[in-house]
Amino acid sequence: MTIQVKYKLKGELNVSGDKSISHRSLILSSMATGETKIYNLLESEDIKSTIRNLKQLGVKIRREPKFWCVSGVGTGGFKQPNQAMNSGNSGTTSRLLLGVIASNPIYCTIIGDRSLSSRPMSRVTKILEKIGAKIQLTKKDYLPLTIMGSLDLLPLKHIISKPSAQIKSSIMLAALNIHGQTTVIETRPTRDHTEIMFKHLNIRFKKKKVANGNIEIKLNGPYEIKAKNIEVASDPSSAAFFVVASLITPGSNILIKNICLNKTRIAYISILKKMGGNIIIKKEKKLSGEIVGSIRVKYSKLKSVKIPENIAPYLIDEYPVLSIAASRANGITVMKGLKELRVKESDRLKSIYENLKNCGIEAKIDGDDLYIKGSSSLLLGGNKINSYHDHRIAMSFSILNLICKKQLQINNLNCISISYPNFNRDLKSILINV
Ligand code: S3P
Repeated sequence: MTIQVKYKLKGELNVSGDKSISHRSLILSSMATGETKIYNLLESEDIKSTIRNLKQLGVKIRREPKFWCVSGVGTGGFKQPNQAMNSGNSGTTSRLLLGVIASNPIYCTIIGDRSLSSRPMSRVTKILEKIGAKIQLTKKDYLPLTIMGSLDLLPLKHIISKPSAQIKSSIMLAALNIHGQTTVIETRPTRDHTEIMFKHLNIRFKKKKVANGNIEIKLNGPYEIKAKNIEVASDPSSAAFFVVASLITPGSNILIKNICLNKTRIAYISILKKMGGNIIIKKEKKLSGEIVGSIRVKYSKLKSVKIPENIAPYLIDEYPVLSIAASRANGITVMKGLKELRVKESDRLKSIYENLKNCGIEAKIDGDDLYIKGSSSLLLGGNKINSYHDHRIAMSFSILNLICKKQLQINNLNCISISYPNFNRDLKSILINV
C-alpha cells in the first residue's frame, strides 16, 4: 500500500540563526574590547545558557529590538562569578567556556542538567590541565566541576585525535589569552566556525594541512580583539528537518533561504542527493565570513546509501533526521562509525534505533554502525516515541509524523526549544492540507 498523506510542504521559509555561530558570536564579542551588535542571534535555551554564563562572568549583554548588544571585557577581563554557572543542556556552552575561563585568574563551578552531567568533559579538561588550569571533575569526567584558571598557562602543542569542534574551539579560545604560540593539530577535520569568526574579527592565526592529512592551527597570544558587528547565518542543521520533510512528503516543494552553506555543515545535503533527493543549493553571499544561500527541495523517491565513518564529524547533528530519510528509502542504509552519537544530548544511536523500531521500521546496531531498512509503504503511526529529552530526536520524529496515518505520541516535545523554539511555527507555515 502506498501512502496517503494529509499534508504537503509548499512555500518559502527562513529558519532561526545557527546555534554554533550564535555561541561563538557571544563568546568572542565578550572577549573583545568595545560593543558588538549581533544580528539574527538564535534565541534558544542553549544560547540562553551561554548568555547567562557570560553575564555571570561580568559581561554586559542586552537585547535591542533588532539585535543583541555585547559589551566586551577583553580576553583577560572576566570576573569571578559569585555562584555556580549553570550550562543547562548545552555541551558547547560548558566546553567552550572552559577554554575561556582557563586563561583568566578566576575560580568557577560549572553545573548542568541531567543530560549534560552525564556527558564527558575530560576530553577538554585534560588539555586545559596540561597547560596549567586546575580542574576537579565529578567521577573524573563529569559535571559538576570546578576550575581555577591562570594568567600563566603554557603555550604548547596539542594533538586532538577525537574529532570534535568543541575541543578544538576550547583550546583556541584559551590561546587568545596565553603568552606565546599554541599549536593545535587535528587528525580529522571538524566544523570550522571558530576559525571563520576569528578571521571575521581580524584575529591572526595560521591554519594549514600538514603530514598525514592532519590540520595544523597556530596561534600567538595574547590577543586584543576589536569589537566588530556579527550577522549570524541561519542554521543548516535546523533546515535539515524541513529538507527531509519535503523529500519524504509527496507533492512537496520548498525554498529555505539565508542558510549557512559552510561545507563542514552541509554534508547531509550531498548524502541526501546521493539517495536521489532533488535538492538545489544556491550560494549567494558571505555573512560575517560564512557562505550563505538558499536550498530548494522537492519530494523525491529515495534509495539507500552507505555513509562512511570518515565524514561522521560533518554529519554529527544530522544523523537523527538522516535516519528518518533512510527509513523512507528503498534498501538498507548503513551509517558507519557513530560512536560519538552515544555522548550527545542522549545516546542518539540508541534513541534513533529504539524509536525506529517503535514505528515498526527494521533497524539494527552492529558495534557503532547503524543499519536501517527503508520502505515507502504506509506507516501506521499512533505509537509512542521517547524523545529522551533530546531536541533533535523530538524534531526528527515530528517530521516522520507528517507521513504517519495516526499521530505519533512523542513525549517531552518542549525540549525542541533547546535549539529551535520556532520549529513548530515554521513547520506549520509551510504545511498545506491535501
Ligand atoms: C558543535 C560541535 C558538535 C555538535 C554540537 C555543536 C559546536 O559537537 O554536535 O551540536 O558548536 O562546536 P562535537 O564537536 O563535540 O562533535
